[in-house]
Amino acid sequence: MRSILLFPLFVYATLADQNVTIDDTDSSIQYSDGGHTSPCTIDADGNFSPGQAGCFNNGPKNCTSGAHVLQTQTSTLSMQFKGSAIYMNALLDDISNVYTVTLDGNSTDLDGVRPGGALLCYTLFSQTDLDPTVEHNISLSIKGLSPTRNTTLGNDNTFFFWLDNFVVTMPGGDNTSSSAAISGTVSSSSPSSNPTGTSDARSPTTIISWTSFGVGAISMLFLLW
Ligand SMILES: *[C@@H]1O[C@H](CO)[C@@H](O)[C@H](O)[C@H]1NC(C)=O
Ligand SMILES: *[C@@H]1O[C@H](CO)[C@@H](O)[C@H](O)[C@H]1NC(C)=O
Ligand SMILES: *[C@@H]1O[C@H](CO)[C@@H](O)[C@H](O)[C@H]1NC(C)=O
Ligand SMILES: *[C@@H]1O[C@H](CO)[C@@H](O)[C@H](O)[C@H]1NC(C)=O
Ligand SMILES: *[C@@H]1O[C@H](CO)[C@@H](O)[C@H](O)[C@H]1NC(C)=O
Ligand SMILES: *[C@@H]1O[C@H](CO)[C@@H](O)[C@H](O)[C@H]1NC(C)=O
Repeated sequence: MRSILLFPLFVYATLADQNVTIDDTDSSIQYSDGGHTSPCTIDADGNFSPGQAGCFNNGPKNCTSGAHVLQTQTSTLSMQFKGSAIYMNALLDDISNVYTVTLDGNSTDLDGVRPGGALLCYTLFSQTDLDPTVEHNISLSIKGLSPTRNTTLGNDNTFFFWLDNFVVTMPGGDNTSSSAAISGTVSSSSPSSNPTGTSDARSPTTIISWTSFGVGAISMLFLLW
């Protein structure tokens, strides 16, 4: 039999995932202590320029412009975030420590030692496939000296961690809505399937903002039932 239904019209936008960089100076990161510091500048002859106390020596500069340094064994940092993936980018060298990274209560010990004498940037920890709709908590503490550290430098009491930044992946369409509800009537004689993830109807005005994002692959799928 035929029936007249009020139906919502859903408009889907499939946007590419986006990486958002959260720099070490961002207020969402909580540090127990320490401070932001910059790379040491080196003159044309390879000598450190004077008057830059607290700078860090990174060789080929593949980090961003500065980092937060923690320098005691009990130092910690933590951050709350929402996203589908997280990357913790750190400056590491041959005397880095073993660090404990805890994500939503799940702890992992990571040896931060990397070859070479100067601090370089590496992704110390990453996790993908997170639920982007809930708040996550990532934290780091210093577990202890690394058994793989360069011991010729007499660094048996050296505890530190340099945070360059976090990168958080925002799933496509996160900011830009997923659906728009439009009322109408349709004749239908068959039961319809319920598209997943379209239960909350939002203003059609969000459609306009999609185009201003300049995202290449926007595909719209019109579903009705
Ligand atoms: C986000 O950054 C990670 C790590 O660099 C990379 O593997 C991933 O492909 C990036 N994702 C996007 C959407 O750019
Ligand atoms: C805990 O973290 C480890 C290492 O990242 C991962 O392999 C494991 O799946 C995680 N366990 C849970 C319950 O999230
Ligand atoms: C920085 O350089 C090191 C050594 O070449 C490399 O392993 C690391 O992946 C680089 N990091 C970035 C963020 O490019
Ligand atoms: C995040 O985790 C850290 C370390 O476990 C904890 O100190 C902090 O209170 C947590 N933050 C929130 C908001 O739960
Ligand atoms: C340890 O550090 C010293 C001094 O920088 C260096 O000469 C030596 O090559 C390093 N050893 C290793 C195994 O990297
Ligand atoms: C989402 O919106 C917030 C606030 O306007 C902004 O800070 C963030 O960068 C946006 N994220 C994406 C993936 O566009």
